[in-house]
Amino acid sequence: MPHSAVAGTPQLLVELRGVGKSFGGLAVLGGIDLRLEPGSVHALVGENGAGKSTLSKIISGLYTADEGQLLVDGHEVSFGSPREALDRGIATIAQELALVPELTVAENVFLGREPRTLGWISRRKLRKEYLAVAQRTGFDLNPDALVGGMRTADQQKVEILRALARGASLIIMDEPTAALSAHDTELLHGVVRQLAASGHTVLLISHFLSEVLELADTVTILRDGRLIRTAPAAEETEASLIEGMLGRTLGSVFPDKPEVVSQGEVVLSVRDLVAPGVYGVSFDVRAGEIVGLAGLVGAGRSEIAHAVFGAAPRNGGTVSVDGAATPNSIAGSLKRGIFLIPESRKEQGLVLGRPIRDNVTLSNMGQVAPGGWVSAAVERRASRTMLDRVTVAGDDRRNVSALSGGNQQKVLFGRALQRTRKLLIADEPTRGVDVGSRRAIYDLIVEQAAQGIGVLVISSDVEEVLGLAHRVLVVRGGVIVGEFSGEAMTEENIITAAFADPITNESQ
Ligand SMILES: Nc1ncnc2c1ncn2[C@@H]1O[C@H](COP(=O)(O)OP(=O)(O)OP(=O)(O)O)[C@@H](O)[C@H]1O
Ligand SMILES: [Mg+2]
Repeated sequence: MPHSAVAGTPQLLVELRGVGKSFGGLAVLGGIDLRLEPGSVHALVGENGAGKSTLSKIISGLYTADEGQLLVDGHEVSFGSPREALDRGIATIAQELALVPELTVAENVFLGREPRTLGWISRRKLRKEYLAVAQRTGFDLNPDALVGGMRTADQQKVEILRALARGASLIIMDEPTAALSAHDTELLHGVVRQLAASGHTVLLISHFLSEVLELADTVTILRDGRLIRTAPAAEETEASLIEGMLGRTLGSVFPDKPEVVSQGEVVLSVRDLVAPGVYGVSFDVRAGEIVGLAGLVGAGRSEIAHAVFGAAPRNGGTVSVDGAATPNSIAGSLKRGIFLIPESRKEQGLVLGRPIRDNVTLSNMGQVAPGGWVSAAVERRASRTMLDRVTVAGDDRRNVSALSGGNQQKVLFGRALQRTRKLLIADEPTRGVDVGSRRAIYDLIVEQAAQGIGVLVISSDVEEVLGLAHRVLVVRGGVIVGEFSGEAMTEENIITAAFADPITNESQ
């Protein structure tokens, strides 16, 4: 139910009638009718590529619809840019964050609207206004920190603060919690509820169906660019949403784990590793073994992964593959058959200006180009085979930027699969991936393990770690504080270890 409005908050009724959109002659949305009630949380769910982000971009002025109408408070509008939408009170927290890395948190929040005194940006006022906005959310960020060096979760918070600072009435959140820790997710949920209660409208796009059911008043399901239904969240269940999204029911999300060859050779051996954020870590991964690295966001899991991969300076300790120490460089790791799928695709993974095909084969040139020549036919075949395996359909000569967020993730996965020979490190492998494709990615991970590759999976989703890993290492404060396998590998044990008070160390 829409919450009762608080006096003074500008209310906005946004409607879509028969909206359609095509890219290069290909229809990605058609016949969309939608009514976003002021003071409510309206969720949008659907598979990767269903059209959720495209729909939100039409509302926020980034794209114009080819068909149908967009109405604000009953009047047809045509936004020429996000700026125009913003002036009408519509702000977006995009799936791909759009911050200025060289500026501070407070500067980003007030970008273009800095408080000025006689034309000069007033630092003091900036700080004061920042604190006023930040207080509404409970987010704890240093206003003077440079945004570029911050982790994804914190950058996301900056985007949310920015939308609030602009006084938006409709706030579109495209997968806002995909990169957040459990604690930050709770904070954000509080913010969303508070926004709706004060008369704002929130359009929430999320692959976390439990989150959708918990937060939303209304849910709209999209499939292949078509609206399947809009219904009160209270009338939906996870199963009914999945069926609407996929057009079929889904059995278990997790595949059977392959038997670990218990005598499997140790492929990766890490001893006393010291690196930025890593304070003395030792562990092994055997051939065919899937090892989970669990812990809270910021615990040091990605830092361990980067140091193992040679992407961060090692200040001590050794990393060996098949018993031989690896050099501290990415090139050295690739040569040894280690591959890392990074947490931040945009900065560390995809080459956004290039075709999908190039992105799949990019780090695989040795294989694609026998004798040093890139054979177009070989490359085409290699790319297609891999894209089929990761279930990305369509012409692979398109720019990778044209793919939906989840499908970009699958492209990176495809590249990794071609290249990994010994150890695959996957940092949050299913972030932003829909439930159906998630299963496809899990199957690929298990398939790798079955072929004797060691796998290190980092995930904030405990269910995911439990569903995939043979053994779980819990990381906290840059060290391993717990190891669980077999019967002891339970959600409770993992969470207890991840949260345990670092002084009493009661989990150890
Ligand atoms: N700029 C573009 N050029 C060409 N095609 C595009 C462009 N933007 C989106 N598409 C296509 O439109 C379809 C819908 O994409 P969209 O990003 O809206 O999906 P989504 O539902 O947000 O998926 P995800 O859950 O993966 O984020 C996809 O097939 C995508 O490839
Ligand atoms: Mg999207």
